[in-house]
Formats: sequence, C-alpha cells, structure tokens
Amino acid sequence: MTLASRLPAILQAVMTGQPKALQDKHYPQWHHAPVTGLMNDPNGFTWFAGRWHLFYQWNPLAADHKYKCWGHWSSADLVQWRHEPLALMPDEEYDRSGCYSGSAVDLEGRLALCYTGNVKFDDGSRTAWQCLAVENSAGGFDKMGPVLPLPAGYTGHVRDPKVWQHEGVWYMVLGAQDLHKRGKVLLFSSPNMRDWENRGEIAGNGVHGLADAGYMWECPDLFPLDGKHVLLCCPQGLARQNERFLNVYPAAYLVGDFDYATATFSHGELNELDAGFEFYAPQTALAPDGRRLLVGWMGVPDGEEMLQPTREQGWIHQMTCLRELTLNNGKLYQNPIAELALLREEEQRWQGPASLAPALDATRLELQIEATGRFSLRFGGGLTLDVTGQGITLQRPSLATGEPLHRYWHGAVASLQILCDSSSVEIFINQGEGVMSSRYFPHPSERLSFNGESAVTLRYWPLRSCMIQ
Ligand code: FRU
Repeated sequence: MTLASRLPAILQAVMTGQPKALQDKHYPQWHHAPVTGLMNDPNGFTWFAGRWHLFYQWNPLAADHKYKCWGHWSSADLVQWRHEPLALMPDEEYDRSGCYSGSAVDLEGRLALCYTGNVKFDDGSRTAWQCLAVENSAGGFDKMGPVLPLPAGYTGHVRDPKVWQHEGVWYMVLGAQDLHKRGKVLLFSSPNMRDWENRGEIAGNGVHGLADAGYMWECPDLFPLDGKHVLLCCPQGLARQNERFLNVYPAAYLVGDFDYATATFSHGELNELDAGFEFYAPQTALAPDGRRLLVGWMGVPDGEEMLQPTREQGWIHQMTCLRELTLNNGKLYQNPIAELALLREEEQRWQGPASLAPALDATRLELQIEATGRFSLRFGGGLTLDVTGQGITLQRPSLATGEPLHRYWHGAVASLQILCDSSSVEIFINQGEGVMSSRYFPHPSERLSFNGESAVTLRYWPLRSCMIQ
C-alpha cells in the first residue's frame, strides 16, 4: 500500500483513539505512551540543536506488532514534551515490513536517522537493510535509502543500528544472528555514514568467553562511562536462571574496555539491567552536560503483553522514566534524572512502624523509604513488594492464569525510591544499585498500603501530571 493510501487510516486511528486512551484510568500521566495503538522501543534518543528528541516504534493502526512507524517527540527540558510530525512510515520496498529500531545523529548539522528497513517474504524468510533518513525543513524526514545490506555470515536478523561519531569516524553497532543461530553484536565504521566497513563481532554468544548466551541479540548500545565502556544488549534465548533473567527476553549489560584500533571489547560477565517484570530495548543519549541518560520500553515482547487490559482501550505500553547512568565498582547504577523533581508537589513525611503508615494514592507518586528491616508494600491487589532478609521479591498475578509470578533483586536494602504513574511502578534500590520496573493494572479506588513491624522513614510527593503537548 502506498504512503498516500495509509495516511487517512492513521489520521482516523489517532482521532478516534486518542480521546479513548487519555480517558483510560491506566493511561500514564507523566510517562511517554502512544496516543493510540502500540508503542515499543525508544529510538533516536538524542540532543540536537538545543532540543531533546525521542522517537519510538509505533503502530498507530492497532495495538499489535505490525506496521512499525517511527513516532517523534521533542523537549527542551526532558519534562515537557511535544508531538512532532510522524518521522518514518514503512512505505518503501526496502522497509515495507517495518521501519525498525535505530538511532539519531547530527549529520553535518542535520538530524539524521539510522534505522532498519525490515522486509519479510511470503515464504517466511526475511532480510534487513540499514537505512538513512534526514530531517527536512517541514520537520519530517526524507528517506535516503539503504546504506548497508545484510553482511555475509548472518541470517536476516540484523538490526537496530546505534550510531555515534568518534574522532571524525562514524561507528555503528548492530544486533545480529549468525548462521549458527548465535546472537552477536557487530561493529561497522564509516567515513561518511554511507559507506560502511565491517569491523567484526565485538560481543555475543561465543565471543570473549560468553557461552549459551542466546540466539539473537537486539538493540545494542555501546558508550563510554566513568572510564570504562558499557554495552547494553537484549540477548534473546538466554537461559533463565534461578532468580535472574526471568523475563521472556531480558535486557542486559557488559562492562569492559573498548579499543577502537583493534575493534575489540574485553568485558566481564553479563548482568541484568532491570530486575522487574517489564523492561526492554533501552537506549541512551549523551547530555550536553556529560550525563549519560537512558530510556527503556516498559514492556517485553511475546510474553503476556497481548493480555494487558489497555488494549481494549486501543493502546498498549509506555516508556520508563528517564534515568541517569553511572558506574560504581563495575556496576551500572540507574537513577531518575534530576529534572523529574520538577514534577513534585508538596512534600509529606512520616516515620514509624510500617504497619501504621498511611495508605497512599499511587496514581502519581514519588515515595522514598528508608528502612532497616523487613516490610512489604501492596499496590492494591495488583502487585506486592516484599523487602526480605535477602533482598526484594515482587509478586504479581499472571494475566493469563492468575497464578502468582515473581521477580527478585538480591542484596541488602537500605533505601527505596519508588515512582508510580497510573499503571506503572519503578523501584530504585539503594540510590540506583538495582531497579525493578513493572506494569500493573489497579482498580480505581485501590491504594498503596504498608505492612510489617520494621520502622520506616517516608518522604513522599504527589506528582503533577505532565501530558505530552
Ligand atoms: C525490540 C525489537 C527490535 C526491532 C523492533 C521492532 O523490541 O524487536 O529488535 O527493531 O523491536 O519493532
């Protein structure tokens, strides 16, 4: 179908879908979410010419994983965002099955998008092109076409270019699957963004001692942080461990040393990036003040996502809050960006045994807890958090069967910072040492309540709603 023939349907979907989504009690009040349809990965997160840009995988036509476009938001301050023109639609032969994930860069003073043109064939096979598009004066993007076909030695699963510039040379990491069905991260370099040279595999299943590390690695992101390099990746097919990597597909990170001259990345073990029920496909951007910021998709493909009740209201999924990354003793720490404090309304404090703490409205809430012993939190009937002797256990009923499902974080818990927004909870443990991000779908009158005899010290703020303009 041509571009012109899809636009009326998209317009109609937005006109009829947006009012319905905004009225949904589960719709986020200060996180990014689609105005209708399905949103998944953050794309093209970057600071360009005085504004922040955040693009996203978006099917505006239905709450399913078809017809992937790039939606686009921008912001001056990372708090107030506005809608920008739809950036990419799958309307060319080379991207006809979806404009898949990618990144954005400043290309000679113009905002340029690097994305994957995904092409599926009738016999079930597929190919992928890495493509370029450049911003035009109307705020839309002109497609420049493919710049890289499938590299030899890999299946049709090669995608998600993350591009950056270093000492005048462009670099790109790609998620890939080799012909033995092992997940890899490939590195390419280019003098001009158009001619790309394959520099080899920098990480993956069977590389640098990583064994049994999955059949496909998606959404890689490599960046320097506090004297090391960090590689974010989403290794599909990683074996579940006892209380780790429990999601259908996990998001993980490697810390190490990256050498541009030899294109090698020597790294330590694969770590889980977020221990909650919903977190995938994160992407980072460098702020002008040097901070490394991250946003992730608060969803996971192929699990119970299609059972989420918001699909009945025509929309599904949201992003995480924006987070700042730091490295401490080789461990990646994540904390909400400082700007989010602008959302705080009047501060409240409380101290005493957890069981006597007041029940709170968790619709829009920041809650900081200091505690020395065990206690638990009940987010209505939808989600419980237990601080145990070993760490944290989250429990939530399966949307399919109702049976309890669990996620774990291990370690001594001294403090929690919890961000709530309608149907999401992000738990930051010990100033960012651990994070657990999860969705839940409470009934309107349900409140957040405390349990346990341990003394807790609470500071909390209702948060102002901050919808995208
Ligand atoms: C990750 C992912 C990417 C792909 C995109 C398609 O969630 O599968 O690998 O580019 O989503 O929407």
